[in-house]
Amino acid sequence: MQVISNNNILRKKYRIYEYAEIDSTFSAAERLLKKDTNEDSLIMADSQTAGYGKLDRQWASPPGNLYLTIIKYGNIPIKDAPKISLIMSLSIIELLKAELPSTKNINFKWPNDVLVDGKKISGVLLKGFSESNQNEIANLMIGIGLNILSSPQNLAYKTTSVKENSETVHHREYYIEKLVTIFDEMLDRWRIEGFSFVQDDLEKSAYGLGNKITIKQTDKEISGIFKNIDNNGNLVTIAENGELRLISSGDVLLKTW
Ligand code: BTN
Repeated sequence: MQVISNNNILRKKYRIYEYAEIDSTFSAAERLLKKDTNEDSLIMADSQTAGYGKLDRQWASPPGNLYLTIIKYGNIPIKDAPKISLIMSLSIIELLKAELPSTKNINFKWPNDVLVDGKKISGVLLKGFSESNQNEIANLMIGIGLNILSSPQNLAYKTTSVKENSETVHHREYYIEKLVTIFDEMLDRWRIEGFSFVQDDLEKSAYGLGNKITIKQTDKEISGIFKNIDNNGNLVTIAENGELRLISSGDVLLKTW
């Protein structure tokens, strides 16, 4: 099945793999990297039977939403991975700002969620295919889920979709083309200008900025005032004793204050 046409501009930069149904576009990407692929690639599917997100949580993947893994082939410094993840989140925010009514509140929930009016619409997860050495990741895989037609119910947090927020809804191909174009432009901009525009833009829409937040890590929760995002993509908090803390992993909990 081919939805992305042969003259699509993405085909000039990426090898494109489209599936009607796949276990997970990540797993497909890993299989391709093992034998078929030695170039930047886009792996997309109508539905996934074993889609997963952060901490191996199930990512419900019925037909009608966007499931995409981008392979950036070659070695990438490990220290750049969190920045690339943030650049993707910012790209999703830019895409949604252009696609949803301006009355909608589009927020970035550190480190990889996008919310519309407080409900999760998209998540990003990065993986490396193999670590080539201590400082580099070989073949970065960027997984993106975006709810277009539906969103999973009965989760611990609220979810939403493009359809719930806009009268105009397109096929996933439309969003993928726009998203990947924005993402590549932002990667170029980052290389030329540095990371500060990403920090600034994400901070403008960051959920909880300036407020007391709680970050959930695997074994503990950390609370503090969300001060800023630093130039490595860490979340910076101010603890009650005034101490600054740099947090590189975890999830900001959705709470009302
Ligand atoms: C998150 O936990 O918020 C990240 C979700 C990432 C889901 C996407 S869907 C496409 C790709 N394939 C997967 O199995 N997961 C990612």
